[in-house]
Amino acid sequence: MNVPIKTPDEITKMREAGRQAASVIEMITPHVEAGITTGEIDRLCHDYIVNTLGSVPAPLNYHGFPKSVCTSINHVVCHGIPDDKKSLKKGDIMNLDITVKTADGYHGDSSVMYIIGESIQGERLCRITQECLYRSMALIRPGARLSELARAIQEHAEANGYSVVRDFCGHGIGAGFHEDPQVLHYDGYAPEADLVLAEGMCFTVEPMINIGNHQTKVLRDGWTAVTRDKSLTAQWEHTLLVTATGVEVLTARSDEDLSFLAD
Ligand code: MF3
Ligand code: CO
Ligand code: CO
Repeated sequence: MNVPIKTPDEITKMREAGRQAASVIEMITPHVEAGITTGEIDRLCHDYIVNTLGSVPAPLNYHGFPKSVCTSINHVVCHGIPDDKKSLKKGDIMNLDITVKTADGYHGDSSVMYIIGESIQGERLCRITQECLYRSMALIRPGARLSELARAIQEHAEANGYSVVRDFCGHGIGAGFHEDPQVLHYDGYAPEADLVLAEGMCFTVEPMINIGNHQTKVLRDGWTAVTRDKSLTAQWEHTLLVTATGVEVLTARSDEDLSFLAD
């Protein structure tokens, strides 16, 4: 197991990658409303990443993924493929997952939930899922263990009657899209589940939380992961850097309140 420690030069490049990923989300957010297709969202993000940022959308052709972003609606857990078949409609919830690879060769990876119109169930699920991410982020500092993050996520999800997806995890990130360690979101086995965090490590936390049970399956397109029981599911993701005293949120958005980290 090899968990890289980023050099100061790499950290500078990761900051830029994270900022870029956040800027894609900021750019697209006003467009995400009833009537737009996920294909249109994909094209707007692709053009912005390539033409405005001068970077590469990392998902495109990644192990054969056919589009530039992932759009996962309602019971789709992750890796939904954008298309022009159906427009977003009131009551839908959607995860948009953006990964940018900069010209310097570093990755920024972040995802957010959108609620189209109103969804009482969806709003509660999205809020609790973001709280799961935030509670784990608040634990990050040198000396903390990945297993503590996992337990915080699982406890908060289950205390609210939800389940944690086990089939997908967070990951180290840098020059590689997916590096060591695997970052579990539940109390389970992984080679680095007990990893002691150290300054300079970069990884994502990206909990996927279901209203129903934790089981998922991948559709015949080879990508789209759905809840087996078709229950609603949500995910939030940040790319994070372990600092001397805590965490730096490399993909923080300008409107995001991260004041809970400042103590
Ligand atoms: N961005 C996803 C993650 O958080 C990975 C997407 S891989 C793709 O790790 F091929 F589906 F794009
Ligand atoms: Co990720
Ligand atoms: Co992602």
